[in-house]
Amino acid sequence: MILLACTSLNYATAHPSQDKLTLEHNMPPTQLPNHIAMIMDGNGRWAKKRMLPRYAGHQAGLKTVRMVVEQCSTRGIKALTLFAFSSENWSRPYQEVNQIMSLFFQALRGEQRRLQKNRVRLRIIGDKSAFSPNLVQRISETERITASNDGLLLQIAANYGGRWDIVQAARTMAQQVQAGQLDPATISEANFATNLATLDCPDPDLLIRTGGEQRISNFLLWQLAYAELYFTEVLWPDFDEMALVDALNAFASRQRRFGKTGDQVQSANNP
Ligand code: FPP
Repeated sequence: MILLACTSLNYATAHPSQDKLTLEHNMPPTQLPNHIAMIMDGNGRWAKKRMLPRYAGHQAGLKTVRMVVEQCSTRGIKALTLFAFSSENWSRPYQEVNQIMSLFFQALRGEQRRLQKNRVRLRIIGDKSAFSPNLVQRISETERITASNDGLLLQIAANYGGRWDIVQAARTMAQQVQAGQLDPATISEANFATNLATLDCPDPDLLIRTGGEQRISNFLLWQLAYAELYFTEVLWPDFDEMALVDALNAFASRQRRFGKTGDQVQSANNP
């Protein structure tokens, strides 16, 4: 009995939202973020705690990817952007880089049926020029197959860096100016944003980072300008439905002011 009580106490501490699952399911869509970005951190530590190779952590992380895609799809979230591999991750041991790349390669094919079933549209954002021709081909194939799906837009950031993204957008526009197709006086935040890797996707409303670190790590630097930031100690492979609900509840409790005063926002919400 005592053991049972302790177990449920620990469970409640780890998941403050366990009683709120039903509540969350009934949450009005206006309180849900349209676009969630996630920094999936903690795979290596998850594996180390279990005396497993780091690769086992990445494999377990893929299961969490499946869960968040499914959850976001069924909850009516419009877009989900996952940071799978940063421009800086190439400096990891050669074997680990290879393992992440092959996991990515296999997942693109292995997940196709599930993506179709959930009507998910896949987009890979990042500098693909560093990928093997096989991987580039599989990316194009999966993007093409899912292109007409009308559900969740799933953006996987692979060999992605926020500074790279801004530079490549600036380069594209500079080339348009040089070719006489663009008047520099017409460059705006809005048309600059359409040249970013995220194209027409609205900016994230919520950034979730697992694994306890509290930084952006060169992810979506431009796009995160007004995102609500949510950091959790939970390691990515342990990030489950209830941990997601905690993040969604935290988001719902925030007041987004976009530079206005709190009173202005309140009176706009309750005219
Ligand atoms: C960060 O944890 C995780 C990564 C660099 C890889 C993420 C890959 C996956 C979740 C699996 C494949 C994903 C897709 C989309 C196919 P870390 O290794 O830095 O963890 P640590 O900080 O504990 O060392």
